[in-house]
Order: sequence, then structure tokens, then C-alpha cells
Amino acid sequence: MYPIKRNRRLRTNESIRSLVRETILTPNDFLVPLFVVEGKGIKSEIPSMPNYFRFSLDTLEAEVKLLWSLGLKSVLVFVKVADALKDNKGTEALNSNGLMQRAVKTIKNVCPEMLVMTDVALDPYSIYGHDGIVSEGIIQNDDTVEILTGMSLSHMEAGADFVAPSDMMDGRISSIREAFEDDGYVDAGIMSYSAKYASSFYGPFRDALDSAPVDSKNIPKDKKTYQMDYANRFEAMRETEMDIDEGADIVMVKPGLAYLDILREIKNEFDVPVAAYQVSGEYAMIKAASEKGWLNHDAAVLETTMAFKRAGADIIASYFAKDIVKLIS
Ligand code: PBG
Repeated sequence: MYPIKRNRRLRTNESIRSLVRETILTPNDFLVPLFVVEGKGIKSEIPSMPNYFRFSLDTLEAEVKLLWSLGLKSVLVFVKVADALKDNKGTEALNSNGLMQRAVKTIKNVCPEMLVMTDVALDPYSIYGHDGIVSEGIIQNDDTVEILTGMSLSHMEAGADFVAPSDMMDGRISSIREAFEDDGYVDAGIMSYSAKYASSFYGPFRDALDSAPVDSKNIPKDKKTYQMDYANRFEAMRETEMDIDEGADIVMVKPGLAYLDILREIKNEFDVPVAAYQVSGEYAMIKAASEKGWLNHDAAVLETTMAFKRAGADIIASYFAKDIVKLIS
């Protein structure tokens, strides 16, 4: 007799498959990245990110309302800073009337319950396209942490709920946490990009913000002295443990698809919520292949997103969030 177990019984039709399905996606799983620019009436498509846009503050209002109506309740805000405002020290990042600070107020104004997370790193503000201050060919850790801390306070003053430091400087979480406590922002959240790798998958994002490291003498051409080496796994655990000890509420693994092993390991080891970031290059790959007819767009989006959740993500930052909500509804 053939073995009593026939695993295909549980795959016979969609009703039984849905009954035994282990993982489900809901709008609550998603964090929506938003790119904000100066100007009026702007909704400009990012060339390397088809169907993804930069918004000026006025068009941002409608977008935020749309997200809320779809059940998407959290956003992660990035700003594209004018060249004239860039320097080596991120001076503009501390401007209480800067684009980020106004974006936070705009979102909270049209949708007070929308959870607003802000990106904290110097690259959009840096003439060199680095996440920190550069001197003598080195991204200076401690001087950068000081600016990031001031920047974080400024985002809280504007009304943000969470800061999301994406810079990978050492010690920035404890510095930010201490400043929050000292200034009475006791409920201010920190989602730390804890295991962030030096990756080739950030290219389209750097197009979106015009924030790629510049090609110039004595300026490092990549971010390998602060972002992690993708050959490493134990290092991700160390980084994550330190960020939790320093006061992070949520930790993140980035990029996503190529790092699901890291995600699972962190989820198994630590008891704080874990986020995964499906980054711009992952988005671009699916867009490009499906435009050529080589992949089914919607199927690939659902499959990869499900993989994040299955691998342990409590939160998924994704440029596909709106598509997914429509696909699962
Ligand atoms: C920079 C930052 C990057 C991303 C988020 N914050 C790029 C980088 O580290 O160079 C990438 C996000 C994406 O590719 O979607 N602090």
C-alpha cells in the first residue's frame, strides 16, 4: 500500500489550501516609504522606480489620505533636499522649518492618526552623498551622532512618532534615546536599521533622492566603512543586540529578499518587533522583469512579500504596499 500520508490532500483546492495556510498578509503589516520634494503640484515618477513618485507637500496630502483609506496606517518619510542646501555637516537637517519637519506637520495635519516615522541619516543633506560627516576621507562617527541626535529631536518637535536611523553610526541609538528622555519625549519610538548591509540594491533610492556618494578624490565611493559586509551573519546579531540594549523599540533588516536568513535568525533570537525593508532595487527588479513580460508582476509581488512575513517580519517596508493591499482585498 502507498504510504498513508499523502501531503497533496491539503493542496487539493483553494478552500483547503486557505484553511491550512500558515501565513497571511494584512494592511497592518506594511510601512509605506514616501519621498517628499519642495514645490507645488508635484507628483514626479522616479525613472528607476516605475509607478513610484516624489510628492510635494500639497500632493502629499491626497496620497496620505489615500493610504489611510486603504488601511495603510504607517509611513516612513524621506526628503529630497535641494543642492543649494547641502553641505558636509547636515546643517539643513536641523532646520525646524526644513522639508522633513514640514512634511511631518503636513501628514499629521491631514491624518492625525497616521503613524509617522522619519528617516535619520545625513545622505540627503550631504554634498558628498554620505550618511555622515566626511573628513580626511573618513565618515566621522561621533560628530555625526551628535547631528543625528539633534535631527531626531527636531523631528519629534515637528510631531513625528518614530525616528528611523538608517545611518549605521555606532552609538547613535543610545545618544538619541538619552536625548529623547532628557527632553521629555518619553513615548518617542526608535526603529533602528540594525542590520543594514552595504548593498547594490539601493541604487534606485539614491536616484530618487539624488543622494549617491559622489565620485571625487578622498571621498569614499561606497558605504562599506559603516554599512555591513554582506558576507556576515554573526555581526548582524551583535548589531541588533546592541541597538536593543541602547533603546531601540523596533529593529530592522535591510535589504530584504537576499537577507531572509538574517531576518529569521534575528526573529528567533530577539523579542522585539522586527522589520524588513524590501528596498528600491528589489522593487526595480520586479518592475523591469514584468515590463518585459518575463515575470507576472502581481504574482511576484505577493510571493516575495509573503516570503518576508514567513521569514519572521512583523513589519514590511515596501514600495508595493498599495499594490498588495489591493491584491489581498
Ligand atoms: C540612506 C538610506 C538608503 C536607503 C534608506 N536610507 C540608501 C543608502 O544607504 O545608501 C535605501 C532604501 C532603498 O533602497 O529602498 N540612509
